[in-house]
Amino acid sequence: MKTIISPSILAADFTNLISDISVIEDVNDLWLHLDVMDGHFVPNLTFGIPIIKQLKKKTKLPLDVHLMVTNPEFHMEELKDVGIENITYHFEIETDHMELISKYRSHYNSIGLSIKPKTKAQDLDLELLKKLDLVLVMSVEPGFGGQSFMPNALDKIEYLNKVRKENNLSFKIQVDGGINKETGTKCRNKGADNMVAGSYIFGKEKDQYKTQIETLR
Ligand code: DX5
Ligand code: ZN
Repeated sequence: MKTIISPSILAADFTNLISDISVIEDVNDLWLHLDVMDGHFVPNLTFGIPIIKQLKKKTKLPLDVHLMVTNPEFHMEELKDVGIENITYHFEIETDHMELISKYRSHYNSIGLSIKPKTKAQDLDLELLKKLDLVLVMSVEPGFGGQSFMPNALDKIEYLNKVRKENNLSFKIQVDGGINKETGTKCRNKGADNMVAGSYIFGKEKDQYKTQIETLR
C-alpha cells in the first residue's frame, strides 16, 4: 500500500484556506490533517467543529482530525455524522479508552490514539492496540508547527511495527511533527505508513506543494 501523506493545514494560509487546499485536491492517497487545539490540553488554540463542518463541504479529501483537547468525547460526538475519515485523540487524557472507542466505533472509518514524546509506546497494551485503526506517534510536543523532529519517535515506530507484525494487527502507524524528506525516510524505514507534514508542504510556494508531497512518499 502507498504511504498516506496527511498535509497539516496548520501551516497553510488560514485567511485563504480553500485556495491552498484546492492545489492538492486531486492528489491520491492523501488525507487532510486538521489539528484541533483547545488551549488547555495544549497551550495553543486553532479551530473546532464549525470550521471542520464547513471544510467538509468544500473538499473531497478525506479528513484526518487530530484532537489535541482535554475532552475528545465532545468533539467525537459532534463530528460523528460528518463523514470524517479518521479521528485521533490523545492517550494521555483521563478516560476509559476501550469504552470511548467502542462508543464511536461505528461512526468513524478509523479511530486513532496518539502518544506524546514522553509517553512510552509500551503503555499501549495489546488489548487497546487491537481496538485501534491507527496509532499516531508525535515526534514533537503537540501544540505548534515548525518544530524539529525528535528521534525517539523512531524507536516507538519500530516497536509498534514489531508488535503489529507479531500479532497480525492492522493499525496504521502515523507520525506527526518535523517531517521532511530525511526524517520521513527514517520513519518509513521503521514502519510508518502515514505521515503528517505541515511546514514541509504548506510552508512552500503553492506550485511546490505537490512535489513536496511526492518527495515524502
Ligand atoms: C503539532 C501538530 C502537527 C503540526 C506539524 O501539534 O499536531 O500536525 O501541524 O507541523 P510540522 O510538520 O510543521 O512539524
Ligand atoms: Zn497533528
